[in-house]
Amino acid sequence: MPKITIDARTIDVPKGTSVLEAAQLLGVYIPRYCYHPRLSVSGNCRMCLVEVEKAPKLLTACSTEAAEGMVVRTDSEKVKAARRDVLEFLLINHPLDCPICDQAGECGLQDYYMDYSRAKSRFPAEDKVLRQKRRALGPHLVLDNERCILCTRCVRFCSEVTKTSELEVMERGDHSFIDLKEGKALDNGYTLNIADLCPVGAWTSRDFRFKQRVWFLKKAPAVCLGCATGCLMEAHYNDNTIYRLVPRPNAETNTWLCDRGRMTYKAAAAGDRLSKGVIKNGLIDLEPALREAATRIDEAKDAAAVLGSPWLSVEDNAALALLAGGMKTENYCFDFKFETGIADGILVNKDPSPNAAGAARVKAASGGLNFEEFLARLSGGKIKLVLTEARAAGLLKDALKASGARLIVFANNRGEIPAGAYATLPYASYFETPGTFINYQGLERRTEPVVQAPEGVKPLWQVVNKLSAYSGASLRLDSAEDALKGLDKK
Ligand code: SF4
Ligand code: SF4
Ligand code: FES
Repeated sequence: MPKITIDARTIDVPKGTSVLEAAQLLGVYIPRYCYHPRLSVSGNCRMCLVEVEKAPKLLTACSTEAAEGMVVRTDSEKVKAARRDVLEFLLINHPLDCPICDQAGECGLQDYYMDYSRAKSRFPAEDKVLRQKRRALGPHLVLDNERCILCTRCVRFCSEVTKTSELEVMERGDHSFIDLKEGKALDNGYTLNIADLCPVGAWTSRDFRFKQRVWFLKKAPAVCLGCATGCLMEAHYNDNTIYRLVPRPNAETNTWLCDRGRMTYKAAAAGDRLSKGVIKNGLIDLEPALREAATRIDEAKDAAAVLGSPWLSVEDNAALALLAGGMKTENYCFDFKFETGIADGILVNKDPSPNAAGAARVKAASGGLNFEEFLARLSGGKIKLVLTEARAAGLLKDALKASGARLIVFANNRGEIPAGAYATLPYASYFETPGTFINYQGLERRTEPVVQAPEGVKPLWQVVNKLSAYSGASLRLDSAEDALKGLDKK
């Protein structure tokens, strides 16, 4: 454990710790562009220069290992002058794009210029080296080479994280630029992390570009429900609209997000979002839709069935379990067995659903059939009506077709409704209502409302509660927690 002194404060650090990381442990921030905690050290931007006693020149803190007795200054006049010089150098050929650059407001060049430079450029604008401007690369990104400071984070991400190595630095000196390798396409499933990693506005997201100035955005914690990994993320929103999802790095699950997970916010504001009920393809108000669904459930008596869903929260599955109890049917199931584990060595899970473990918690408390038994009863004609969530209904596809059983589903969007569904009831998405999910590691994660649901659209447990009031199975739930309490009593 070498003992190192930084700005007159001493700390013991594990062997192999860099000066930059040792400073971080002491709460001393050293500016950086090329350093990233999850990428290899390249030490090329020089922004992290510090003064080390007995060293003849300033050293890069990111690539210098802390050594016993080392004395470091991060705030000397020499260091401050070096930071100004590095910024002048990085800005020499940088375009005057800030007013039209999507990175403005969260740009490493803007921030460090204000913190460490504020010097006037001595370089004539007409002598700037011009490089290629905006160019779409891959389905999600735009590259503006003129804004690039050649930190190589994007290149290292593609070679070290996705291991797809699509990018490289071409040419030499001030004519260097980032480019796609010949024959490669930038579509590795994780490309939007590059827009986050790029410290300047060289890589920007095609989806987010010019939608909002970042200083208008508010931030809220969110959980990705795109698969069983359950990545933690942050939703950036304004005026009841989500504009982008970015990672909320954590030690347990994720530093990055996959591109598909990033786009999951779109369904909440999609044009086919349901705010009314659907009976046999026709839209009708929610109340008559609920009454119709309740009549059909009552009519089916003990041949009615409830299938929970690994796409629903623990609370909403618990409400469905209570409804099954109220309906006095033995045909209910909260058992979903998917193979789990990271499928691609990065994040994407083999299990496409976010909450099979949460459904299993409901099954443990309320019992019910296992999935094979449920399927056998459906295929054997013992079940005449199934109430479930739209994606869970997809698991019954063939059996539903063969049995001719009536299907009533809960869905967020019209595009989710399975063919042949008799009735569909809308519910609030998990960007609009709280819910508990349990990921493949058994970690409990809670979604919190970021935006409001469309007018009249309620959380699923409330829709279930209303459905119960219209049928003979009144539950009288006042909150999602009531559904959980109901489980506890069983
Ligand atoms: S494009 Fe961005 S991330 Fe890539 S080298 Fe340039 S500045 Fe760094
Ligand atoms: S890996 Fe799964 S949970 Fe993580 S961002 Fe992608 S879809 Fe979402
Ligand atoms: S952060 Fe150290 S050289 Fe770039």
